[in-house]
Amino acid sequence: MSTNHRRIILDCDPGRDDALAIAMALASSAEIEIAGITTVAGNVPLEVTHRNARFLCELCGFPETPVHAGAARPVVGAPVTATRHHGESGLEGVEVTTPVAPVESHGAVEFMADTLQAGANGEITIVAVGPLTNVALLALEHPGLVAKVREIVVMGGASQAGGNVTPAAEFNVYADPHAAGIVLDCGRPITIHGLDVTHQVLATPAHVERLADAGGEVARRLAPLLRPAQGSRGERFGPDRSPIHDPCTIAWLLRPELFRTEEVPVACETDGTYTHGATVVDWWGVTGEEPNARWVTEADGEAVLDLLIERIARL
Ligand code: RIB
Ligand code: CA
Repeated sequence: MSTNHRRIILDCDPGRDDALAIAMALASSAEIEIAGITTVAGNVPLEVTHRNARFLCELCGFPETPVHAGAARPVVGAPVTATRHHGESGLEGVEVTTPVAPVESHGAVEFMADTLQAGANGEITIVAVGPLTNVALLALEHPGLVAKVREIVVMGGASQAGGNVTPAAEFNVYADPHAAGIVLDCGRPITIHGLDVTHQVLATPAHVERLADAGGEVARRLAPLLRPAQGSRGERFGPDRSPIHDPCTIAWLLRPELFRTEEVPVACETDGTYTHGATVVDWWGVTGEEPNARWVTEADGEAVLDLLIERIARL
């Protein structure tokens, strides 16, 4: 397997930006083999994220992609959703049809474990762009199998950028901070695309138009997902500019040279009145802790968006 070929399990909560990440990965079959997609409750409830993942595989022309449902609630506490941003359908702006492929019988964690069991050491990369509940449950229930994972690529967390759910916390980590802590402690290489970097990847109306005109029916139908989410604080980024979060993880697999990273110790706050769900990065090494994550600090935002458009236009 070449160094830049990846076999991935994509764990997600589609979700508007998840949908773009799924399409981008499906369109990159020369570099990325999707062993399967696993779904988790997050932006919208599990039954909706799961329906959406299955719908997107069919829309993109890959109905045979295994899609396995995972956790409907966090490791601790009650589910948190972002329906106000993603709409009741989870894919606000896209006409969603009911998928026809049969629902897989095995759950997400069982699928992850079976895939890791059958694969070689370092064969599988887990890309997680929703709350980390499924990955945490895998680590808790199958620690020996997690040891075989090549890399965990996460969209989640925030440090310099501040939070998007509270001043301290980003949604995916806020929705299940205990899971994020378990994953941070799992011992595998973790690359974290937090808001610090996704806020550098800002789509504009010109990007929406380019994607709509770039390819066929799929690009045209998914282009509205590049528009600002309803209720988003667009004024922070400039008029009509929208941060594109989850696709950064796929762009990292395809063209890591578009990003800069720093090895740092990262911890997740699970208490705190004001800091619940915060990812606490020790930039100055004051804790004496060893780095446990590769934190993505910079991106060539325009190049990431060009790559997204070029790939989805292939579908
Ligand atoms: O904070 C952004 C993240 O939360 C993205 O993954 C988005 O899909 C939501 O899950
Ligand atoms: Ca997501």
